Amino acid sequence: MFSGQHLLSVQNLNLEAINELFTVAEVMRPYAKREKMTRVLEGAVLGNMFFEPSTRTRVSFGSAFNLLGGEVRETTGLSNSALAKGESLYDTAQVLSGYSDIIVMRHPQPFSVQEFAEGSRVPVINGGDGPNEHPSQALLDLFTISNELARIGQTMQQLSLTFLGDLKNGRTVHSLCYLLALFPNIRIQLVSPEALALPQKYVDLLSNAGHQIEIGSNLEKGISQANIIYQTRIQEERFESEQEANRYKGYFRLNKKIYSDHCLPNAVIMHPLPRDSRNDANELDNDLNKEPGFAIFRQTDNGVLVRMALFACILNVHKQISDSDRSVNWQVGLKPK
Ligand code: CP
Repeated sequence: MFSGQHLLSVQNLNLEAINELFTVAEVMRPYAKREKMTRVLEGAVLGNMFFEPSTRTRVSFGSAFNLLGGEVRETTGLSNSALAKGESLYDTAQVLSGYSDIIVMRHPQPFSVQEFAEGSRVPVINGGDGPNEHPSQALLDLFTISNELARIGQTMQQLSLTFLGDLKNGRTVHSLCYLLALFPNIRIQLVSPEALALPQKYVDLLSNAGHQIEIGSNLEKGISQANIIYQTRIQEERFESEQEANRYKGYFRLNKKIYSDHCLPNAVIMHPLPRDSRNDANELDNDLNKEPGFAIFRQTDNGVLVRMALFACILNVHKQISDSDRSVNWQVGLKPK
């Protein structure tokens, strides 16, 4: 399903394709952990184009491509590209696809990556198009949900998920809703300020999938029945003014006391990141960092596995990963003192 295709949305994916992708992602684990190396994409070039700020998506896509043996060419910031001189997305795509085997692109406008893909001669992965979608994040989130449920001895059939925060503008939530609609009977709690509620089309999507949905704005009540809590940042870059965004900053603050007093034992905390740790927001307190259920950095690690799997499947080398296996000869990680 992925071979030679764009990944612009998760809307066309089915569970069979996703399970296949996740099987390949598990194959990637020893390579991502630097226990082994592969050169299966040696000679291939990734065009990594980010026209909005990013740490995780940009670096993990680049790392994933490098870990498969490929080369990465980056363009960051609209002002550093000829888009700032009036070049169209179509022309940019025609040019850059002549220099690359695959392109990842992030852009602030909804559906801009789709427009770009129409001019591309190579597969394009949507790295986030404004508030619309973030397909690779949704895939790594689903992979993480499944792994975290297994870690606490549960399955997707027992999933009770709370989305918390800016559900109006959070593109990771929007893409994840499409994937959750592929499963039966999920309990979903939607907790946000009223003005930042999940757009109705996603509520309808989840409801038409047969999920039980509760909508509210009370933090303690909203997290009390969840085995997965998925918090999102107030997406200040999507607001008309800083002043408007500031009204919602710090609206929901999850810390160790609230977690211990109100969550189910073993409840898992996820966040697509970045978490806003400034004093006026502090949405996930640092005192949660050592909680076993605090999964946000396992989630970011999973991003590399899933993005390696996407490259391998799209470029059709997923069955040859171990053909060029080598062991690594450098010190991996910190040595215990
Ligand atoms: N989750 C995510 O998209 O993070 P970045 O903005 O750092 O890429």
